[in-house]
Amino acid sequence: MKSTREQTILRIIKRPTQEALLGLIRNEEYHNDIKRLAGEVRDRSYGHRVYLRGLIEISSYCKNNCYYCGIRSANANALRYRLNREQILGCCRTGASLGFSTFVLQGGEDPWYTDERLCGIIRSIKAEYPGCAVTLSLGERSGESYRLLYEAGADRYLLRHETATPAHYARLHPPALSLRNRMQCLTSLKEIGYQTGAGFMVGSPCQSLEHLAADLKYISELAPQMVGIGPFLPHHESPFADFASDPSMATEVQDPLNMTILMVALTRLLLPYALIPATTALATLSPQGREKALDAGANVIMPNLSPEDVRGAYLLYDNKASFGTEAAESLEKNRQALEKSGYIMDMSRGDYKQNDIEA
Ligand code: 5AD
Repeated sequence: MKSTREQTILRIIKRPTQEALLGLIRNEEYHNDIKRLAGEVRDRSYGHRVYLRGLIEISSYCKNNCYYCGIRSANANALRYRLNREQILGCCRTGASLGFSTFVLQGGEDPWYTDERLCGIIRSIKAEYPGCAVTLSLGERSGESYRLLYEAGADRYLLRHETATPAHYARLHPPALSLRNRMQCLTSLKEIGYQTGAGFMVGSPCQSLEHLAADLKYISELAPQMVGIGPFLPHHESPFADFASDPSMATEVQDPLNMTILMVALTRLLLPYALIPATTALATLSPQGREKALDAGANVIMPNLSPEDVRGAYLLYDNKASFGTEAAESLEKNRQALEKSGYIMDMSRGDYKQNDIEA
């Protein structure tokens, strides 16, 4: 028998209005049930398997100037590097020998990566590792570009929407970027056939709980195959460096760790088959972050496969974790940590499972 509280949660998840979702966020009495139910839903969809992705940070150059990000174009002190085809293939080789079968190519919006160069890189990876999945996370590009990259063999694309509220989006980004365009990109990625990932930051400057409810509502409508959710962490060379002490940037999110976990759990309930990472930002915020996210329905981790000499340069926020269980070389550490918490490390492709309604 389900308790009244559980019934209320499941009723709201079935027809999720922004208002009802906000009610769940505001009412702490529901939070433990939400997290437990989310773990159960994940178990029904994917069991206790946690999929690993090898993350290759291919470029710290970025033409954009997002106010929250450490590699924003205006940060003259950021260390800049980019990996060429051979270097990226070298990372894949290391990854493949460790057992990885998904490679995530992530980077700033760096115009050096033309469609032609990227298509060549994707084709080379696919030629050398035919069974692997290639995920791109390279920001906004044209629909035509997304199509060419897909035809070259890319399987998945991560592009967080960051926040689904236009006014809040404008607080976090310069005028050159718009939520409208971001959402248009996500729609075309899905249409082209990518397994598509959206997602958002939790506790970002000026974020209200209503904004988070809007993010969940958007996620439920877009129904992406992947959702990345992580806490906002300030970068000392960004306009949000004084975030913690400046009241004009205050957020309604009091406890970013637990709010991020709650967002993971609600996302799992809304999208039972989504692939949801326990993010590096969450692991950076708290040593328990990763395990808590898994217990609340996450089922992916993305250890860092970037060349060790550049790991210190891809800094989106301060103190970013890239060693220990965040490092691809520490696979045994990861296996043991996962097994200790009752999970099974899975190095297979871990594609999105289409559910019966969509099939
Ligand atoms: N804190 C947390 N996450 C950040 N990202 C960028 N900057 C920060 C920050 N300061 C996230 C964004 C982006 C992803 C690659 O990293 O959500 O989409």
